[in-house]
Amino acid sequence: MKKSTFYYLVIFVFASAFLIISACVKEGPEGPAGPQGPTGPQGPQGEPGINGQDGTASCILCHDNSETIRSKSIQWEASVHATGGNFERNGTDCAPCHTSQGFKERIATGAQTTANVISDPTPPNCYTCHKIHTDYTTSDWDRTTTDAVTFWINDTSHDFGKGNICAQCHQARIPDPQPTATAAANDSVTITSPYWGIHHGPQGVMLAGTGGVEFTGSLTYTNSAHTAVVTDACVTCHMADAYGTQAGGHTMNMTYLYHGQEKLNDAACKTCHTDVSTDIDNVHAELDPIFQSLKVALAQRGVLDTTSMHPVPKKMKEIEAGAILNLLFFEEDRSEGVHNTDYAKALLQNSLEAVNALK
Ligand code: HEC
Ligand code: HEC
Ligand code: HEC
Ligand code: HEC
Ligand code: HEC
Ligand code: HEC
Repeated sequence: MKKSTFYYLVIFVFASAFLIISACVKEGPEGPAGPQGPTGPQGPQGEPGINGQDGTASCILCHDNSETIRSKSIQWEASVHATGGNFERNGTDCAPCHTSQGFKERIATGAQTTANVISDPTPPNCYTCHKIHTDYTTSDWDRTTTDAVTFWINDTSHDFGKGNICAQCHQARIPDPQPTATAAANDSVTITSPYWGIHHGPQGVMLAGTGGVEFTGSLTYTNSAHTAVVTDACVTCHMADAYGTQAGGHTMNMTYLYHGQEKLNDAACKTCHTDVSTDIDNVHAELDPIFQSLKVALAQRGVLDTTSMHPVPKKMKEIEAGAILNLLFFEEDRSEGVHNTDYAKALLQNSLEAVNALK
């Protein structure tokens, strides 16, 4: 064998062995990580962030521990608004005044009826009169309406100041048929229901001195002082300082019981009157005899049932119907002449004269 051939053979054998071994040996697993290096130097300070807001700050404007909501709530809970129970009158004709939802709808639309019957009705309450949870500021105590009131019965208006919200509901409804003050002695109308009239709670129109059937007679139609001088009207007298939960404040009642005796909450009256109970007695003494005479005259003519104080449904003289309307207006006002003595007196007196002049 030649020496060079031997070398080639040796190289070949080694090369083959290397290839075989290197093909058989696999890469081993990675070794463990080395120890962490030292912490680097601190970076520069960042820009300051925007201050966060306390999520309840606006709520606490009212939901605090001042007992404001509690005091108004217990008064309201004792009021006829809360306890009267007549808010089941949720039909489209009644809901605008008897339900909270109906009232808010009517203030928004300006209509005298609601579009639909109100389901789950609520009586007049905080949400009816205040803009609760609108802006979540103290301006949510603002009243839901402050506009002067345009009366349904004759489209005239009157500004009752803070009392505007009251008179939106406490006003007359349009009677059907509606007697006129210019009716001739022989004109007649047909009353079909004993519930005919201008409805309960016409205090707003009475205080404003409008809405009655103003027959011509010995008295002219003028207003007593209260119409002009009591600038927040209903609110001044009915929401004066509260007497517990019986009168004043959000009970809106004028009277309370003291040792079983009914007393007037005279908190507001005292700011203008020195002896208000005498003033009231004088008004009663002046008006009650005229009221009684008119009642008797209408009963004798067979058009008024004095037990129920409802008209007797039938065809009657328009003047009789107008006089009944005025009698009921006075009765339903329930202040017995205090709201507007002069206007009430003229309506009753002139009605009596008109009825007595009939054959
Ligand atoms: C303007 C005053 C006022 C502000 C501001 C106000 N609330 Fe009220 N909140 C009321 C009144 C009033 C009621 C009704 C109380 C009642 O019916 O007896 C009420 C009722 C509630 C009720 C009971 C709801 C219900 O249906 O019975 C909750 C819950 C409430 N508020 C939460 C809040 C929260 C949360 C905030 C702030 C985001 C807030 N209120 C801000 C006045 C306010
Ligand atoms: C949403 C209509 C509405 C508003 C607004 C309203 N009332 Fe009334 N009010 C009523 C109704 C309806 C009743 C009778 C409730 C019942 O019998 O269920 C009533 C009853 C009352 C009574 C009790 C009468 C009684 O039988 O002893 C007084 C007093 C009164 N309201 C005064 C006010 C005053 C004052 C305001 C304004 C601060 C006012 N009301 C605002 C609808 C309203
Ligand atoms: C313009 C507002 C208004 C409308 C509309 C209205 N009411 Fe009333 N109603 C009142 C007010 C205000 C009182 C509370 C009067 C008061 O206590 O002096 C009341 C009281 C009543 C009472 C209680 C009477 C009492 O002696 O306790 C009944 C029942 C009633 N209304 C039925 C109805 C019915 C039924 C309708 C619909 C056909 C209706 N009302 C529509 C404002 C309204
Ligand atoms: C029938 C309408 C009516 C209802 C219902 C009513 N309020 Fe009022 N509230 C008023 C009127 C009107 C005033 C303004 C009285 C005044 O300025 O003397 C008033 C004043 C207030 C004030 C004083 C607001 C201020 O600006 O200082 C608070 C608080 C208040 N009412 C809370 C309530 C709460 C709570 C309820 C429910 C439990 C409620 N009211 C229900 C009519 C109402
Ligand atoms: C000058 C004060 C005064 C003003 C203003 C006033 N009232 Fe009266 N109101 C009285 C007095 C007094 C009574 C009779 C209280 C009694 O003897 O029961 C009365 C009686 C009532 C009654 C019968 C229930 C009750 O509490 O005796 C209602 C309802 C009523 N007023 C609502 C109103 C409304 C609505 C207004 C505004 C349009 C208003 N009042 C304005 C003083 C006032
Ligand atoms: C803002 C002032 C003011 C307030 C509040 C007030 N009155 Fe008067 N009232 C008067 C004035 C002014 C007269 C007219 C006095 C006169 O003609 O001598 C009057 C007259 C009367 C009369 C007689 C009516 C007449 O024409 O002869 C009675 C009754 C009366 N008020 C009762 C009350 C009662 C009840 C209250 C409280 C619930 C009250 N007033 C609140 C100012 C007020």
